[in-house]
Amino acid sequence: MKIREFFYILLKRYFPHLKTKSKSKFFKKILINKILLIFSYYLKISKEEILISDIFLNSKEQEELEKILYDVLIKKYPIEYLLKKVRFGNLELNINENCLVPRLETEEFLFYSFEYLKNKYDLNDFSFIFLELGVGSGNIILNFLEFFKFNKKNIFIGSDISFKAIYLALSNFYLNFIDKSVSKLIYLINSDKFLFINTYNLSKFLITKNLNLIIFSNPPYLDKKEIKNLYDPFVSLYSKDKISFYVYILKFVFELIDSIVYLRNDIKLEKLPIIEVFLEIDRIGFKKLLNKKRNKILSKLTILKKQKISKNIYYFYIKYKEFFININFYVV
Ligand SMILES: C[S@@+](CC[C@H](N)C(=O)[O-])C[C@H]1O[C@@H](n2cnc3c(N)ncnc32)[C@H](O)[C@@H]1O
Repeated sequence: MKIREFFYILLKRYFPHLKTKSKSKFFKKILINKILLIFSYYLKISKEEILISDIFLNSKEQEELEKILYDVLIKKYPIEYLLKKVRFGNLELNINENCLVPRLETEEFLFYSFEYLKNKYDLNDFSFIFLELGVGSGNIILNFLEFFKFNKKNIFIGSDISFKAIYLALSNFYLNFIDKSVSKLIYLINSDKFLFINTYNLSKFLITKNLNLIIFSNPPYLDKKEIKNLYDPFVSLYSKDKISFYVYILKFVFELIDSIVYLRNDIKLEKLPIIEVFLEIDRIGFKKLLNKKRNKILSKLTILKKQKISKNIYYFYIKYKEFFININFYVV
């Protein structure tokens, strides 16, 4: 059977109502594009070639193609795992089933964080340590590195509990950064959370090197029911109570501030490090995190300002002891 014939047969078989639905134009476009992508992946030719070609598919090829289409379109297996490549931010990345498929909302948050930092600070002067909990494929930390690598005082540190994810992030670093001088700026660590960091040493380092701190995390935040139909690694999605990673990050920041406050008595500080935190979270987790009865850590801080920036982004200006922290939440 010719490829075009097969294409329309599949469309009819799996989406018989496509024509009759009034709102289906957009959906149809996406669907056709997805099918073309799958064909192109399977046959190793471009989408354009498929549309004009007279390729003949034998029955084995038809069977295999239909199986892939069924998995992706009906069972919602991520097409990104098939193609093994994504474009995220300004980088091309390899991905596989060992990492979360980078999501569009995370990319939106990434671009927001760049704009936010660009508008707020003189980035030639504002140098920082960037910390990420759960780097996955490296989609966030590597884009931060790309965006801020012009300032060689910046340092980028990312952790992931999955060795396979760290390995992938590292390979994506080598894929994207030919200038190996930047390898001195980045550390990808296979570790649980930030347990490899001693907060006292970090605070001393921030102070003596006159650095600021940026923490970014899109940690696991789904419960077992919510991840039932997802194909990403369990460890990248599951959180027992939805908020433990956020509470951990807040405690980490507070511990760091405690050390800075302690050190301040010894060293005369000209200026305190600035702390910027970016967290992706879902609506249920967000509510739970801000619930004073459920989350005792809130009693330690004062929310000085809360602002809804856009449909998904909330900005908080927080005081802990005599220290101020900025937190931006992307609420999915
Ligand atoms: C939701 S994924 C985010 C991946 C990537 N940063 C993104 O936004 O697309 C969460 C990541 O956290 C990692 N992770 C889970 N538990 C962790 C832990 N205790 N310590 C460090 N990383 C963890 C997972 O392996 C996964 O790569």
